[in-house]
Amino acid sequence: MTNVDRDNGENLSWGSQEWFAYLFTSQGDQDAAAYYTHKTNGYQIYRHTQLLKVLESHSISGRNLLDVGCATGVLTAAVARRFKFEQVVGLDFVKSMILKTASNFEQFKFVSGSLPHLPFTSNYFDLVIASEVLYYLSDDKRLIALEEINRVLKPGGCVLFSSVLGESYFSSEEAVNYVKKKFTIETMSETYNGLYHSTFGLLENVVRLALMLRKGIEPGQLSTRVRLRKYNWLIRTSFFNNFLNVITFFCTPLIRSHWIPKFSNWFSGKFRILFEATNITLIGRK
Ligand SMILES: C[S@@+](CC[C@H](N)C(=O)[O-])C[C@H]1O[C@@H](n2cnc3c(N)ncnc32)[C@H](O)[C@@H]1O
Repeated sequence: MTNVDRDNGENLSWGSQEWFAYLFTSQGDQDAAAYYTHKTNGYQIYRHTQLLKVLESHSISGRNLLDVGCATGVLTAAVARRFKFEQVVGLDFVKSMILKTASNFEQFKFVSGSLPHLPFTSNYFDLVIASEVLYYLSDDKRLIALEEINRVLKPGGCVLFSSVLGESYFSSEEAVNYVKKKFTIETMSETYNGLYHSTFGLLENVVRLALMLRKGIEPGQLSTRVRLRKYNWLIRTSFFNNFLNVITFFCTPLIRSHWIPKFSNWFSGKFRILFEATNITLIGRK
């Protein structure tokens, strides 16, 4: 029995390999409310289309692509296809997921490996994607990861860095200074998902709670957002379960839609409502 089985998600620290592995094995990647939902959750779909847009505005080209922290490989494959990369490698430290990702995208190579070290030769890749991953590393490991990305990139190659903004992540300024340590920043783009997170994000959490209960995962043990253990007595009632099922039925199509986060980002910009940037994307060149 592995640690993950033994403690059933208890005491797994945020961002650790075991934490990610547990999220993947317990929730999978198909349900719109699960953690790894790059194909089924509207917000994730929207986030990826935004990253593709940033790359398009930059006329990215080359043969070799590396995606670190590639998870389900959905973004890796989308970038590889859009920009016609020939050698495509994704790296992630959740072995069970890498196996599934590799079988979903047989034309690309997916390997298990743990940042900050990159098991690749120097000066090889034209583009390295590091989307929503480097903030899980400690400060010293973040620096090593940046050096490693720089090492495996060809001269003139690019890094696509993307991060949530905020505590435990990067601030806007930290992100810029971080990438600037090794690269010349050529593009900076921010998105405003606050309105979405504070409205539909709540629905997403309710649907996530329903998923956890269906799979027998104790809420509060696992999710960083759904901390409902003290309401366990209520959660166990059939009234509450029926209520969750109704919400799930009506809300799943909503949280699958990428139009809602798209609209919310536009609305925030237009009417200056919750107009604080929530995500940053930078393209740096070696
Ligand atoms: C939030 S997901 C981002 C997935 C994808 N890059 C995207 O933007 O949709 C973070 C991924 O990074 C992986 N990851 C986190 N820390 C890692 C590390 N130290 N080494 C390798 N992979 C890591 C996790 O397993 C997870 O699949």
